[in-house]
Amino acid sequence: MAAPNVQRGHRAPPAGLVRLAFVSLLPLAACQLFDSPAPLFPFCSDPPLVVPDGGPPLGWADVGPIFLTHCAGCHTAGGIAPFPLESPSDVAAEALAVRAAVVTRLMPPWPLAHCCESYLGDPSLSDAQIGEIASWIDQGLPAGVGSVAEATPPPIPGLARVDLTLSMPEPYLPQPQPGSTDELRCFLVDWPVKTTTYVTAFDVRPSAPSEVHHARAFLMPPGAAPPGSSGADGRPGWNCPNGVPGNVGAVGGWRPGALPETLPGGLGYRVDPGSQIVLSMHYRSATGVLVPDQTEMRFTLEPSVAREAQLVFLADPNWLRGGMPIPAGDPDAAFAWETDPTGQSGGKPISVWAANLHMHEHGKKMIVGVRRKDGSLDCIAEAPAWSYEQVGEDYFLATPMQLSPGDKLHIECHFDNSAGKTALNWGNDQEMCIGYVTATW
Ligand code: HEC
Repeated sequence: MAAPNVQRGHRAPPAGLVRLAFVSLLPLAACQLFDSPAPLFPFCSDPPLVVPDGGPPLGWADVGPIFLTHCAGCHTAGGIAPFPLESPSDVAAEALAVRAAVVTRLMPPWPLAHCCESYLGDPSLSDAQIGEIASWIDQGLPAGVGSVAEATPPPIPGLARVDLTLSMPEPYLPQPQPGSTDELRCFLVDWPVKTTTYVTAFDVRPSAPSEVHHARAFLMPPGAAPPGSSGADGRPGWNCPNGVPGNVGAVGGWRPGALPETLPGGLGYRVDPGSQIVLSMHYRSATGVLVPDQTEMRFTLEPSVAREAQLVFLADPNWLRGGMPIPAGDPDAAFAWETDPTGQSGGKPISVWAANLHMHEHGKKMIVGVRRKDGSLDCIAEAPAWSYEQVGEDYFLATPMQLSPGDKLHIECHFDNSAGKTALNWGNDQEMCIGYVTATW
């Protein structure tokens, strides 16, 4: 195996260190026919936005709808964001911060690089919308002609058809540790349907949405051991600060302002009788006042689908055995691994529909991509500035990506342990580098 090839645009890791990590993995990895540690990928970077100055005078009638659809899901009275952005006076109170957050693309929060791929449900503003907001603020926030002084965000539509509603077994009062505003808590919910069925659309409705940072539902196949012990600390559920480990599939999730998820392309998640759902909740209190929450999940089900969603799990098996050493003080420990997923599809070509990225607190940046048989590289999902805050979603590509035998899926994680006094490795309370792709074949 060649030494990692540090490519253009990539901040070089200490090469000797990365090489050492890979060399120590080689003897084990060699046994795997399709899998290998891999040279590093280039990360792309979004070009800096050129904000147009001036432009025709705008009013709230022009920019209001942008705030209401892209911001007010979180920035509403009692929402998870620190202040509302629902009226011209709301925006005026935070005008400079709003301009900066929009122009730098800090808001709305979206963790993936746009230079990599386009995704369904990406809430990011277009360059034109960013320009309109910046101009409007630069012009002194004029009310404009025919402006709407106050407005409420458009209601979020529900699922077109609800076939099954499940909720948390009982209401739960979040209890962040002293000194923290956050709690990550998981709950087990039995799947009651007695025949095999397919989930084609999914919606989550927290009963206390203002304190839910995000929620994810994972599918546990029949007979799988639950990843936590409900009620062991005398309260419903269990603490799951590092999510839901293991090779389980996500059914879907929710974040403030999110629409219900409808799977594209006739896709469905197969659910067998006896399955269970692990509902992973991230509670956050901006104000310190918390009320009980009993989140509800709604499903659209079909007896059969055109395409059954499959999961391809991406992580070097050697990492799980302690083969992911992250030295103390290292600002950029990088690990990469590749697999030909047609090993899993019996040699059939594969369509990649979605990707999911997972690291912990020391994650710095991460990429899932494809190294084609001819050596060319395709990006599927890139988190250029990892934030543990935003983990968990399946990012659906606007257009599924096709893979043929010989093409390899690439996963690569970079960790920053520069402030760390101890070395890290793979572990629930240490670090992880996991990707999933949702695929069909
Ligand atoms: C998914 C929820 C969400 C959406 C959507 C969202 N925000 Fe935020 N926003 C937050 C949260 C949470 C914070 C506070 C924590 C932080 O800074 O990340 C925040 C903070 C901010 C801040 C303060 C940033 C700073 O300087 O610290 C500004 C300004 C802001 N948002 C503007 C916007 C605008 C404008 C939009 C729409 C274009 C938007 N936000 C959409 C959740 C959201």
